[in-house]
Amino acid sequence: MNFIKVNTYEELSARAAAIICAQVIMKPDCVLGLATGSSPLGTYAKMAEKYSAGEVDFSKVKTINLDEYVGLNGEHDQSYRYFMNNNLFKHINVDMNNTYVPNGCAADVEATCKAYDELIKNCGGIDLQLLGIGYDGHIGFNEPDAYFEKATHKVVLDSSTIDANARFFASRDDVPTTAITMGMNGIMTAKKVLLIANGKGKKEIVEKAFFGKITPAVPASILQLHPDLTVIYCED
Ligand code: GLP
Repeated sequence: MNFIKVNTYEELSARAAAIICAQVIMKPDCVLGLATGSSPLGTYAKMAEKYSAGEVDFSKVKTINLDEYVGLNGEHDQSYRYFMNNNLFKHINVDMNNTYVPNGCAADVEATCKAYDELIKNCGGIDLQLLGIGYDGHIGFNEPDAYFEKATHKVVLDSSTIDANARFFASRDDVPTTAITMGMNGIMTAKKVLLIANGKGKKEIVEKAFFGKITPAVPASILQLHPDLTVIYCED
């Protein structure tokens, strides 16, 4: 594991964007696994800056997102599809037909999950997976559990996750209680994993996840077994 501690969120974002853009420059038709939440906002802004400066071309890239709330369609301003369109995709030249986010409004959730795993497989797996981390150690929406769930699946969100994400909604009652998330297989078979975490509040879970016991009670701890993991953390 390459654990990088930086001083500011600005620096974290610049380093993460540099790693992702280097991946795209090295392999223009790569598959990027992307994340939502507040942590990657700076990274996405820096990627857009690099695109505007002509440093990187996303036209051949495919993107596969980690998760989506069940019940929110892509027009809902708290859906992860909406987040990706507005915070990254519309600022770069990715082909929208090559951007994938689980369909939170699918009539058949089970079939959608299965198709998502097929998609990851058919793309040849993910080249670089970007992750954030929840306060309970979740990655994507893989919540603490008795075992690591491998496949893309529907998950009931922990009340602590609902509390944490309520800040984005008009009220806590508006936060969906279930989501579709990529499972550990999709994440762990990515060739590279880049996890970013910022804020003093994340310090304890970052220590547990990367320097503690590997356990499904702390889902991100499985990443200690990944052969090419970079973690960037700042207290800022
Ligand atoms: C959400 C997302 C995760 C994300 C986490 C942390 O629950 N599903 O992918 O990593 O929140 O979010 P933040 O970066 O806002 O702390």
